[in-house]
Amino acid sequence: MSSTTNSDQMQSALQESRKFPPPAALAAEAHVGSPEAYEKLYKESIEDPEGFWAGAAKEMHWFKPWDKVLEWNCPDAKWFVGGQTNLSYNCLDRQVEAGLGDQTAIIWESEAVDAKGKPTVLNLTYSDLLSKVSKFANALKKLGVKKGDVVTIYLPMIPELAIAMLACARIGAPHSIIFGGFSAQAICDRVNNCESRFLVTADGGWRRGKSVPLKKNADGGMELTDRIETCVVVKHAQIDIPMKDGRDIWYHDVVTDASDVCPAEPMDSEDLAFILYTSGSTGKPKGIMHTTGGYMVYTYLTSKISFDLHPGDVYWCTADIGWITGHSYIIYGILPNRVPSIMYEGGPNHPGNDRFWDIIERHKVTKFYTAPTAIRTFMKWGDAEVEKHDLSSLKLLGTVGEPINPEAWMWYREKIGGGRCPVVDTWWQTETGGHMLVPKPGATTTTPGSCTTPFFGIDIAVVNSDGEEVPTNTGGILVIRKPWPAMLRGVFGDRERYIDTYWSKVKGMYTAGDGARKDEDGNFWIMGRIDDVIIVAGHNIGTMEVESGLVSHPAVAEAAVVGYPHDIKGNGIAAFVILRGDIPVGEEAEKLKAELAKHVAKELGPISKPDVIKLTDALPKTRSGKIMRRLLRDIAAGVEIKGDITTLEDKSIVEKLQKR
Ligand code: PRX
Repeated sequence: MSSTTNSDQMQSALQESRKFPPPAALAAEAHVGSPEAYEKLYKESIEDPEGFWAGAAKEMHWFKPWDKVLEWNCPDAKWFVGGQTNLSYNCLDRQVEAGLGDQTAIIWESEAVDAKGKPTVLNLTYSDLLSKVSKFANALKKLGVKKGDVVTIYLPMIPELAIAMLACARIGAPHSIIFGGFSAQAICDRVNNCESRFLVTADGGWRRGKSVPLKKNADGGMELTDRIETCVVVKHAQIDIPMKDGRDIWYHDVVTDASDVCPAEPMDSEDLAFILYTSGSTGKPKGIMHTTGGYMVYTYLTSKISFDLHPGDVYWCTADIGWITGHSYIIYGILPNRVPSIMYEGGPNHPGNDRFWDIIERHKVTKFYTAPTAIRTFMKWGDAEVEKHDLSSLKLLGTVGEPINPEAWMWYREKIGGGRCPVVDTWWQTETGGHMLVPKPGATTTTPGSCTTPFFGIDIAVVNSDGEEVPTNTGGILVIRKPWPAMLRGVFGDRERYIDTYWSKVKGMYTAGDGARKDEDGNFWIMGRIDDVIIVAGHNIGTMEVESGLVSHPAVAEAAVVGYPHDIKGNGIAAFVILRGDIPVGEEAEKLKAELAKHVAKELGPISKPDVIKLTDALPKTRSGKIMRRLLRDIAAGVEIKGDITTLEDKSIVEKLQKR
């Protein structure tokens, strides 16, 4: 924990009373259609988790049924012990065998558009995808990839990314997908950590109208480590690249003659499915391990219920597959639900700031899933971009990745959802594999800023460091008290870090690292990372609440709040604020800052009032869109920036902020 934190109870000042019951038409058809239905099933799932999860697992294909649903020796869980299944089989073959081979599995759209403004769109059916996946699976085998070998994938959002991951899953080779925005050093660190000998990359990708030189980065990575023996390269961005003899080989060459029949390997339920690296608080990447059966069942069921998926839906998650959101909610949880999943290659502002709304209109998207950081950017770009398009196909809106400020939530609901779609704020982590706190869209009354109630089987609570539940509306440590099927099985090669990070803060419970409170209706409110809490004159202030206080002012689009050393109060509150319009200068700027401080004091109370406000046009964010508060803490304290900034999206922002 940082020096600004010394207690595990946080104060909460955020008052939010707007409530939105589920739309009646949606509830009438929903998988979980009333609060009573949720309560009943939730109770059953907690009292008899094994019975509940066995029921869900039976909706999927198993080569061999399990002998035992759960074996739990804290902190080690085994789910569907003795069972054999395959993720790729459940995404593809199961649909083809049910006669649905001609239905669309993935709709891929290019970022680039032609002279008439038209992108390239590919509709990949389950049969197409099965054939392409089988071909690449056979190619991988021919290149020497065996069950258990880790294949590193560093690709842009092109169909070959989905194909490569499903091909790995098909033959039992765990994948380690590295987001295309990462650099040579990040590739090297990850390859070394999991001792991967195979890499799949592309010449380049497209992002915001420019090509990203992926093979060049990969070459840089491969210069730093000599582990990679074979590198398969997809030709996509038509960039001239060197191919190293004996190591580099074109994707199109290896698949041309490969057979399109490759039976899926029966995988033990607890066989490693993939490793996904997250950056921990130290610079060293943390390889989160997920296994096969439990992850498969959990992502399938959460997709079905949280997005209330039905035949006829068109689903779009805007995340990159390089993040857990893309793993779980573009591919592994969605394809088994037999609903087309859109995969969009590029950025939200190419060729114009209305690209996302254009995609929704053209494909008649019904369920849309994006991140608060994107929503706040859209707010800043203005309503006119949205109003150019007919978004009436939408039935549900999801959000993930960060706490969503109530005002951004309201904007999303009103402007994007036309006031008729439930907003599903999903709280979860790379480590949890799937949604943990999430509204059940046909059953849950939502309230802006809250991720509401637990998913089935999830025993989640807000506690103090002794593991005792704290009173209603008091902030504390968010913990999960019972195992769930998609939980991480460890940190690759680092047992100690697994135990230290997740199992040592509160005995016998999984700690997520987030602070939260539970309100009188049983709804959960995430208050930010525990490490980010600021103690101001002895009061613990959650950064999230002050940020939401700022965003509730009409001039503000986004805010990041951190603590800095303060002679009298111990810590002061510094706020970095992005405005909806241009940044004023001189006296105008001072006037606005004073008004914003006053506004927060009025909304949350004087203790939460920022001491310093800096107006800025950008914030330092990781490539997955999370604000890097530790950098802002150093900037606010006026000290030299310490620590790793390799995951920062735009390094020039730091310099600009230091000058403000
Ligand atoms: O702090 C929480 C925040 O993101 C963290 C997990 O990050 P990551 O592993 O990158 O996974 C992101 C996609 C699941 C959490 O510990 N977070 C994620 N979703 C929410 C959230 N905070 C508040 N509300 C959310 N809906």
